[in-house]
Amino acid sequence: SAVDLQEVHDFLITIAHKAGDMITTAKPTAAGSGMKKNSADLVTETDQAVEKMVSTSLKEQYPDFQFMGEETYKPSDTLTDAPTFIVDPIDGTTNFFHAYPYLCVSLGLTVKQKPVVGVIYNPFTKTLYTAIKGQGAYLTDPWHERVRLPLKEPEPMQDLSHCLVAVEWGSDRDGNDYQVKVETFRRLCASKETGGAMVHGIRSLGSAELNTCAVAAGMLDVYWESGCWAWDVCAAWVVLEEAGGRMVGCHEGDWEPRVDQRRYMAVRAGEGQKGIVEEFWGCVQGRLE
Ligand code: IPD
Repeated sequence: SAVDLQEVHDFLITIAHKAGDMITTAKPTAAGSGMKKNSADLVTETDQAVEKMVSTSLKEQYPDFQFMGEETYKPSDTLTDAPTFIVDPIDGTTNFFHAYPYLCVSLGLTVKQKPVVGVIYNPFTKTLYTAIKGQGAYLTDPWHERVRLPLKEPEPMQDLSHCLVAVEWGSDRDGNDYQVKVETFRRLCASKETGGAMVHGIRSLGSAELNTCAVAAGMLDVYWESGCWAWDVCAAWVVLEEAGGRMVGCHEGDWEPRVDQRRYMAVRAGEGQKGIVEEFWGCVQGRLE
């Protein structure tokens, strides 16, 4: 039977607010935190407690749906065609650990492996992004009561030298992919005379979901990241597409990325979108593994 996406959306918003209360009242401590693959890959007790609350609530309400969450993920958990909640309890754990108030609860739903509902909530700034496939993307924050995205009529994009670009270093700090990032970021920023694209600036909000939502809103033009996971992009993917933006892959020619492929580029709505994607792909120095 068809999934009632509106009902899922409304339920996810309730859960996002509950999770937000857990996050804003928590006090992350070094003692209650740990590292995963290295010292730049953090997890806190709050990530785990929020995921537990979210997965329990979702399993109770939607017992037949699958669940994939950052803190309980195992490499054998592959995405199937079944309706699947893809959840990051805290996207921006490093920010949370440092009390830097940019993070979100990220709740997505895929059907047939495509993102169809997305709810992203930053409880510190009280910013809520939501979208249902085919029904538009919305922002609710202290200044906007459910405004449709993008925030304004998108300006045409001429080339990268007119763009504000987001990238993230992620937690990989050596090896081939790290080197590709170093060289790519250098080229994006460098002057035209030295072969660069000379973008207006580089931003890293510290949350893949919030970077992608900022592209959806039209605050950023492009966001490129390799190494993040399905739960870092699933929810914002719907927001992006419903706002007229496009999700593609990190490399030349990858126009139809999978939600779990771990290499993504988000580009905002507007004339010139395709040209910006192609110019960016041309700046990628080497091949991500
Ligand atoms: C991380 C954030 C960060 C991105 C990393 C993600 P987490 O998610 O989205 O911006 O660079 O790749 O893993 O660990 O805070 O949920």
